Order: sequence, then C-alpha cells, then structure tokens
Amino acid sequence: MARRGHDLILAVETSCDETAAALVTRDGDILANVVASQVDLHARYGGVVPEVASRRHLELVNPVILEALREAEATLADVETVAVTTRPGLIGALLVGVAAAKALAWARRLPLVPVDHLHGHVASLYLEPLDLEPPFTCLLASGGHTMLLDVRERSGYHVLGTTLDDAAGEAFDKGARLLGLGYPGGRAIDELARTGDPAAYDFPVARVPGLDFSFSGLKTALLYAVRGLSPDELAARRADLAASYQRAIVRALVERIDAAGADRVAVVGGVAANSELRAALPGAALAPLALCTDNAAMIASAARYVPSLDYPGYLELDARASA
Ligand code: KG4
Ligand code: ZN
Repeated sequence: MARRGHDLILAVETSCDETAAALVTRDGDILANVVASQVDLHARYGGVVPEVASRRHLELVNPVILEALREAEATLADVETVAVTTRPGLIGALLVGVAAAKALAWARRLPLVPVDHLHGHVASLYLEPLDLEPPFTCLLASGGHTMLLDVRERSGYHVLGTTLDDAAGEAFDKGARLLGLGYPGGRAIDELARTGDPAAYDFPVARVPGLDFSFSGLKTALLYAVRGLSPDELAARRADLAASYQRAIVRALVERIDAAGADRVAVVGGVAANSELRAALPGAALAPLALCTDNAAMIASAARYVPSLDYPGYLELDARASA
C-alpha cells in the first residue's frame, strides 16, 4: 500500500442502523470503509428500533474503528482529522458516534469535523475514482430522505424539492412489508422485480406541484392491490406486484429529475443502488454501489469541505435528530 503522511481522515457514522468507520485521504482515496449492518437485529421488528440500535452501536463502534485501522494498515498516529455524523438521524444512535469521535480526537488533540449525513451522501460522489465536480443536480433518495438538490460547490447544496410524506426508500420498505418480503425491502423488491412484469399493475405516480415528491398514495394503492389477494394469489402475483411498484417509484423519481431540466444529474443514497433506477438514468453520475447505502467513507469525504473544530472546543458538540 502506498505510504501516506499523517494526513488521514478517520470518520465515524452511526446515524441509523449501520455502525461504520472509514479512513480516507485528503485526496479522496478510500483506504478502509467498514460497515457493520444491524439489519438482522432489526428485521424481526420490521424496522429499526431506536433504542436497540443505540445499544448495538455502543457494542460495535470500537471494533469497527479498529477494523478500519487494520484494513488501512494505519494507526491513530496516521490520523490528522476525526469526522463524525452529527445530524440528522436517530438521536441515541448519533450520540454513540459523536461520543466515540470526541474521545478519539480529544485523546490525540486532533481537530473534529461535524458532518451532516445528507451532505455525506452527496460527498460520496467526490471520492476517487468518480471525483465529480459541481455544478450538478442531485437526487438524494434514501430511507429517511428524498430530495432534489442544486449542488454548486462541494461544501453544500440548496434544496430544490423534497418529499411531502414518505421517502423513496421508505416506500420500498413499506411496499416490501406489504408483499411479505421483510426488512429492509429495497434490495428484496429490486431482486424480485427482475422476474416480474412491470406493466402488470398500473400504480399511480403522484403529481405534486414544483419539484416535490409524494409516495404515500402509491403505498396505499399497493395495500389495496394486496388486500384482495389470498395467500396463494399473493405468492403467484408477488413478482408482478414488486415489478410494477418499483416501476412507479422509479418513474416518479425520473420524472422529477426531468422536470428540473438539469444538464448534469447525479444520484446518491440507498435507493441509488436500485438497478432499475440506475438503468433509467444512463447519463447520470451514479454513486458507486458500495457508497449508496450508509457508510463512513462518504462522511470523511464531506469532512474535507467543512470547517473543523479545534481541540478542545468540540467537547461541547451535540448531536441533532433533525437536519
Ligand atoms: O442511505 P440509506 O442506507 O439510509 C438512510 O440514510 O436512510 O438508505 C437505506 C434505504 C432503505 O430504505 C433501503 O430499502 C433502500 O435504501 N435501498 C434500496 C436498495 N438498496 C437499499 N432501495 C431500492 N433498491 C435497492 N437496491
Ligand atoms: Zn443515509
């Protein structure tokens, strides 16, 4: 491995149900990107249970950071800056990462960078080898957010539109639940949809004013379609339902991107992993698959464009549930 100076960014991300740590260079090379998913832990509840997530983060955060250092063949002496997601997310989950990052930074008198999780998703585009330069219009579609962003510089963005109800990932997750596919549902629907007929059901694509999104009507339409089916009928139609439902979500997202009339388009967030969405946007810059769902490399990437807080001022830094 190429020898670096002491210029590494160590990032920690614990905003939801992935405990993640990464080591990234100032130039945006990823040396390690470790994600410990809690999906199996929450699956039996059909969604993330905040208190369970916090406790699991507490158990995992140190081993995950150590694993990232091991993978990068680095030690804390190679770390120049610590970065951490401070908002938005589950407050108890965020606090675990913030406490861990503060302790690491404080022990070595390093600066600390507070990072907005959504900025992190956008910054997944700034890592090597993609290294995308603004300006571009960015669709951020995750489990918690669905937004169209005007990105003019790497340090931030302006919101052009957002969802009025559910996020696109939430629509996938709720749909998967109605179809009996378990949690989280995006990937399960994506896989099942490949064997189904997307024209089998005519699910609605909500039209709301401006560049906003709405997915709650679609979810209700699926509920009605599923409700009339016996278990055997549901089993027989499940792939068609998944394909038609996914088609409607993808269509809604692509229509909004088209409506924004942008020259350059990028897509980030968990839903950016969706194969139909990726295929529907051949000209767009797509976040690499490993960087679509939550990870800490994207947080390290964003930290390069955010002012750092010097020791020891950041000891008062707090997490925030909202954006
Ligand atoms: O960005 P992310 O990891 O977490 C949030 O910040 O919310 O996104 C998670 C979301 C979940 O709703 C999950 O179902 C969805 O991304 N997702 C997908 C796919 N992979 C993950 N949705 C559609 N197709 C996929 N392949
Ligand atoms: Zn996320």
